[in-house]
Amino acid sequence: MNRKSKPQTVGRRHIREDAEAKLKGRLRFLPDLRLDDMLHAAQLSSPLPHARILSLDLEAARALPGVVAVLGPEDIPGENRIGVIIDDQPLLAQGKVRYVGEPMAMVAAESAEAARAAVAAIGFELEELPAIFDLDQVEAQANEPIHEEGPIAVHQKLRKGSVERGFADADVVVEAELVTGLQEHYYLEPQGCIATPGESGGLVIHGSLQCPFYVQRDVSRATGLPQSRVRVIQTPTGGAFGGKEDIPSEFCARAAVLALATGRPVRLLLSRDEDFLSTSKRHPFRIRGRLGATKDGRFTAMEVYQDAEAGAYATLSPPVIYRACIQGAGPYDIPNVKVETRAWYTNQVPNGAFRGFGSPQACFGHERLVDLMAAELGMDPVEIRRINLLREGGETCTGHKLDESVGALETLERAAEASAKGAAEEEAHFEDGRWLFGTGHAAMIYGNCLGKAGWHMDGAGAYLQLHADGSVSCATGLTEFGQGARTVVQQMAAEALGIEPDQVSLMPVDTALVPDSGPTVASRNVVMSGNAILNAAAKLHERLAPLREELGDVSFRKLAGAAYKRNVNLAAEGWWHVPELDFDLKKGRGEAYFAYSFATQSARVAVDRITGNVRVLKVWAAHDVGCAVNPAGVEAQVEGGVAQGLGWALTERFAREGGNILARNLSTYHLPTAIEVPEIETIIVEEPHSQGPFGAKSLGEPVIIPTAAAIAAAVSEAVGAQVSEIPIRPEHVLELLERGGHDSNAL
Ligand code: MOS
Repeated sequence: MNRKSKPQTVGRRHIREDAEAKLKGRLRFLPDLRLDDMLHAAQLSSPLPHARILSLDLEAARALPGVVAVLGPEDIPGENRIGVIIDDQPLLAQGKVRYVGEPMAMVAAESAEAARAAVAAIGFELEELPAIFDLDQVEAQANEPIHEEGPIAVHQKLRKGSVERGFADADVVVEAELVTGLQEHYYLEPQGCIATPGESGGLVIHGSLQCPFYVQRDVSRATGLPQSRVRVIQTPTGGAFGGKEDIPSEFCARAAVLALATGRPVRLLLSRDEDFLSTSKRHPFRIRGRLGATKDGRFTAMEVYQDAEAGAYATLSPPVIYRACIQGAGPYDIPNVKVETRAWYTNQVPNGAFRGFGSPQACFGHERLVDLMAAELGMDPVEIRRINLLREGGETCTGHKLDESVGALETLERAAEASAKGAAEEEAHFEDGRWLFGTGHAAMIYGNCLGKAGWHMDGAGAYLQLHADGSVSCATGLTEFGQGARTVVQQMAAEALGIEPDQVSLMPVDTALVPDSGPTVASRNVVMSGNAILNAAAKLHERLAPLREELGDVSFRKLAGAAYKRNVNLAAEGWWHVPELDFDLKKGRGEAYFAYSFATQSARVAVDRITGNVRVLKVWAAHDVGCAVNPAGVEAQVEGGVAQGLGWALTERFAREGGNILARNLSTYHLPTAIEVPEIETIIVEEPHSQGPFGAKSLGEPVIIPTAAAIAAAVSEAVGAQVSEIPIRPEHVLELLERGGHDSNAL
């Protein structure tokens, strides 16, 4: 092809292709959709955290006006099972309930009011059982186990070298116990779907979701329909963050069963309150760690024990635990490492996927240990990281030798340099004496895509249809839910063919139109879609090559037109799968992922000595993305991720009492607002990876991973004592101020 005339699309700033429709309010989200003859669904939820179900009486509810169906676990035509990896969860509780909010029965009625009235009329008797509410109590499960299989849902280990030897070689050893809190996704629209009986006995599902092919599989399982009879269409989705990875499968499966039972479209749409109460959160972690180093700051050993609360069912604890473990000792070249990660069952709503799959928790652990060591050695936190960060030719904590694309050090140098200037303009506004200032840094490693544990489903497809006018229709099976992914996919397809992005139209995500590309999680979209598109584009180029030779230097439009007239096949299918990984899952040794993203974030904070409040003044975020396909998109991702990390670090205090969630909306659960979110400076580092499309690596999750650790480090520097838990409550800060020798009475 004629490279000279090829437009350079990748690397240029592009406005999101969905920006206009979103800004003008034209997109119709799931709650905006209504179908003719549509029924409204509601669910009966367990009021108790742990109980035996003695009886369930649906008859009175069935007799109410406007009620079309009332179904219990016996009425599910397929399997009464849900659950993405470990088979421990019923679609409707049977025998036992294990958390407050667990669905026991469901209703379809002519109106939402009638559905609610029917739920209230369902009779049931529960015999309360002793419950386990948090990590403090998990060892006690033996008395009345939540699951017969035992208290641990998932367990992953990592071993490298010998930590005994490594600690013996150390001049200094530091030790810490660290705690991270729950976090709610708070996507824009609550969970919702509409299931519609199709013409040939199948079903069409519209839903706000991340993973249409998970929904297809799980609806098939619950209904007994073949997967081919279940068509899933993603509606515009206003944020998901992992909260719409596996969870929509539950709601879609229940709506599907109701639609089959009634023969009518059924909408199941949660209120915010119901959504908060009954859908997944970020796993809280308790981390115990030890780090050993020589006098000059070289790490000799790191040992980390991470305990995570799974909640009542395993759901997505396996990938959370896998990733937290593999990344548990951070982006450092350490000869001796031991990590042990477990997820424990409790009687709480299951915790699941949340941006990073356990990485932000793991990062808080290793970065706090590194800062503790720097303080112990009297060493600059940047310098100690500089000494130990992975470099090309180095070995990760699983013993994966990295031959390329290790931008860790450059992210550190650039974030440190930019943040060294502080946030002078902001700081001038703060009262003398009352405020303490500090800067903190945190570095991270992120294994791209699913890694060895999910290798069997780490493939993606793409279809390209070249039209006679030189424009292209493109279909991929990965979804947009706010990341800006569609624009990047459009750019990559344009680049692959040498045309402008406005010549590429993306198909809506509908399982009938797009190839199964696995789940849209683990920051996979750019890497997987890009490679699949490149594979399809290569086929088109090959078919066009003879004509190109014959016609010489013509425009792509002319070439396509000529190819069309010669009956060249202009539809191409592409596929890409993550390369083979040599990894021992039992020992956590080897190539855990095929590529790694790196980042360092620095935060500047002001701490109020009187109230213990923390204000973040500025965040510098340096990310090694391999290739910034759309630099404007990179900035947008960074800004969103940092804001979300800031919320987890400071404002999002999750209130539970027993098995009840107390804070269920924005008046009591404080997402950071424009007041709390400071200026965020994005620093793009591009260390291309040979297997990434155009060199690109994952970004969507890395953006949140180091934020809380960087803020905690900054607060620690300001107060002169080490933060050990997030969210950082003012009470904790006041204690630390005292420990740091600050006397607020002296003000
Ligand atoms: Mo996300 S935690 O990869 O759905």
